[in-house]
Amino acid sequence: MQMSIIVVLAMVSQLLFLLSDSKNVHGRTLLQENFEADTGVKLLQQDQHVVMSNGIVSVTLTAPGGAVTNITYKGSDNLLETRDKEPDRGHWDVVWTKQGRDNMTDNLVGTSYKVIAQNPDQTEISFTTTWTVGSTNVPINVDKRFHYMAMSDVRQRIMPTFEDRTNGKPLEYPEAVKLTNPSNPALKGEVDDKYLYSCDNKDSKVHGWVSSASNTPVGFWMITPSNEFRTGGPIKQDLTSHVGPFVLSMFISRHYAGEDIDLKFQTQDYWKKVFGPVYVYLNSDASAKTTPSVLWNDAKQRMEKEVASWPYSFPLSTEFVKSNQRGSVSGQLLVHDPTIIENQHMMVLYIYIYIYIYRFVTKRAVPGGSAYVGLAAPGAAGSWQLENKGYQFWTQTDKSGNFMIKNVIPGTYSLFAWVPGTVGDYKHASDITITPGSNVKASNVVFKAPRKGSTLWEIGIPDRTAAEFFIPDASPQFKIHSYNHPVEKFREYGLWERYKDVYPRNDLVFTIGTSDYKKDWFFAHVLRIVGNGQYAATTWQILFDLKNVNEAANYTLQLALASANNAELQVRLNDPKSLPHFTTGTIGKDNAVARHGIHGLYHFYSINISGSRLVVGRNTIFLTQARNQGRLSEVMYDYIRLEGPA
Ligand SMILES: *[C@@H]1O[C@H](CO)[C@@H](O)[C@H](O)[C@H]1NC(C)=O
Ligand SMILES: *[C@@H]1O[C@H](CO)[C@@H](O)[C@H](O)[C@H]1NC(C)=O
Ligand SMILES: *[C@@H]1O[C@H](CO)[C@@H](O)[C@H](O)[C@H]1NC(C)=O
Ligand SMILES: *[C@@H]1O[C@H](CO)[C@@H](O)[C@H](O)[C@H]1NC(C)=O
Repeated sequence: MQMSIIVVLAMVSQLLFLLSDSKNVHGRTLLQENFEADTGVKLLQQDQHVVMSNGIVSVTLTAPGGAVTNITYKGSDNLLETRDKEPDRGHWDVVWTKQGRDNMTDNLVGTSYKVIAQNPDQTEISFTTTWTVGSTNVPINVDKRFHYMAMSDVRQRIMPTFEDRTNGKPLEYPEAVKLTNPSNPALKGEVDDKYLYSCDNKDSKVHGWVSSASNTPVGFWMITPSNEFRTGGPIKQDLTSHVGPFVLSMFISRHYAGEDIDLKFQTQDYWKKVFGPVYVYLNSDASAKTTPSVLWNDAKQRMEKEVASWPYSFPLSTEFVKSNQRGSVSGQLLVHDPTIIENQHMMVLYIYIYIYIYRFVTKRAVPGGSAYVGLAAPGAAGSWQLENKGYQFWTQTDKSGNFMIKNVIPGTYSLFAWVPGTVGDYKHASDITITPGSNVKASNVVFKAPRKGSTLWEIGIPDRTAAEFFIPDASPQFKIHSYNHPVEKFREYGLWERYKDVYPRNDLVFTIGTSDYKKDWFFAHVLRIVGNGQYAATTWQILFDLKNVNEAANYTLQLALASANNAELQVRLNDPKSLPHFTTGTIGKDNAVARHGIHGLYHFYSINISGSRLVVGRNTIFLTQARNQGRLSEVMYDYIRLEGPA
């Protein structure tokens, strides 16, 4: 017998909490079988509070405010932090601003409360509020006895405490603290920063904490069964759980995107969106005392069940679109991207073979396997990255490029795609309209990848990240946490400062044919520290030889960026003193390097280079990140390719 609490933000101004006796909804899980609920869900109304309970879990909320003040599980003490004031425990947090004014925080405190349904199987209560300016509170708090945090199979660990942070030394920005005197000596010297526990939204389906207090540890998990209501598509990154202990359910944020992704409203704009439901799951098991990941594994199984039961059928709000009111779209993505490499050193015979293969390949579009295909509000190719007011529905194609996007809320969408291994963005020629019960077949889904000529050389892998490049070790002044399984190297604090250690005198020079991007291409084009808090712009060089040059033809530099922060990337050809041949202009506020990300937002440029600008023999492309603003100005490259004449 197992039970569930589901929190629904049904409309911007309405909060719904629902407690269900889940034997009817979700069946049993092994871990809870020995604990039977008695008589279904009960609702107890008190003076200032309302308590929902089913014999396993009880949830107390303020009424009509709607803040969660007390969660007990199998007779435990309150799992929430009782040192926080009642409205600061489980609560909503909206940061908003009027143009030109200071930021304001609104906790969506309810002003009226009503019971939507009350029976032994399901109790649903609703808190409604009008938009008012509230106090500045902190996000959801969970009892400090929770020490073990898990957000993926490999990223789970014993965490420092909130006090450890207070006693530590703040680093370059207040979120990052070096633990100089932690209560757990094993953590001494480590950096704590909530951004260490970020991940792509597509991978952020369950995260939470395991308490170590009692003999039967309790897990507290936030399960997000769908990404449809999050913003910015599948690879938008966000926070999960972090020291506090905090458990977040992030719907909208600037993280790894910057203000470009902010929701903006004009006077009289009409907007409505359902966020959630998200699923809070509690579990317990005595063996978690020694192996806390037991509760993680159970929560992950639970998450898979919740994902499979999306869209939920229980919310009584008519704003939540049920499964039978949704539609689907299917099709096959083909990619037209001849990737033949024209090697200048090849013998004539080989060139003939290559030309033959080249002609053959160029005529064929091949299935786009493992590609991301999605529906989002109509817009230009790639606009889904910043889309935030509507819903998005994404899937990955199978090996043959087939896709089926189910459970789409009725509306008109553009059909978008991007393909790991191929640069650029796809958008289908016609928008897709989904009606209830419809099954739209998208035809002629062919991505003509950006390409003007054959590849002369390339650096990196076009996958929207800088993960394949050289990532330095963290500074020895910070202790690396040793996880049970290795965690990606880029998730360390302060790597931007390592550039000067790898390139103490001269900036990066990469020679086509001899350099290796895995070792010789620093993962981020950052500023150089020149001492005393001063930073300097840097210029990287790509050296390459051409055996012959067609002066009358156009060459193309395909330049894909994985991140940009207060940056301007300038490209010069063969003369470092010339005016830039190309500039991106000022771009980016995604702050991915400081946030230990390996990508932020994607930028892609096709840059014409007239053959007359190139020479036979040695050529140099100079890449200058010219903006020197606030020390964390940077770009990350995703991929660079020089193409020969069309
Ligand atoms: C929390 O709720 C439980 C069950 O209703 C109750 O026994 C307990 O006293 C409450 N604790 C606090 C701190 O309100
Ligand atoms: C509002 O908050 C954001 C994010 O913390 C910050 O970047 C911005 O400067 C703030 N704006 C104002 C007007 O305080
Ligand atoms: C090269 O590109 C320019 C525009 O940048 C265009 O005017 C010219 O016709 C192109 N030349 C060839 C041979 O395609
Ligand atoms: C590049 O050249 C092509 C012709 O080869 C032209 O169509 C295109 O507009 C040019 N792009 C830029 C940015 O100059």
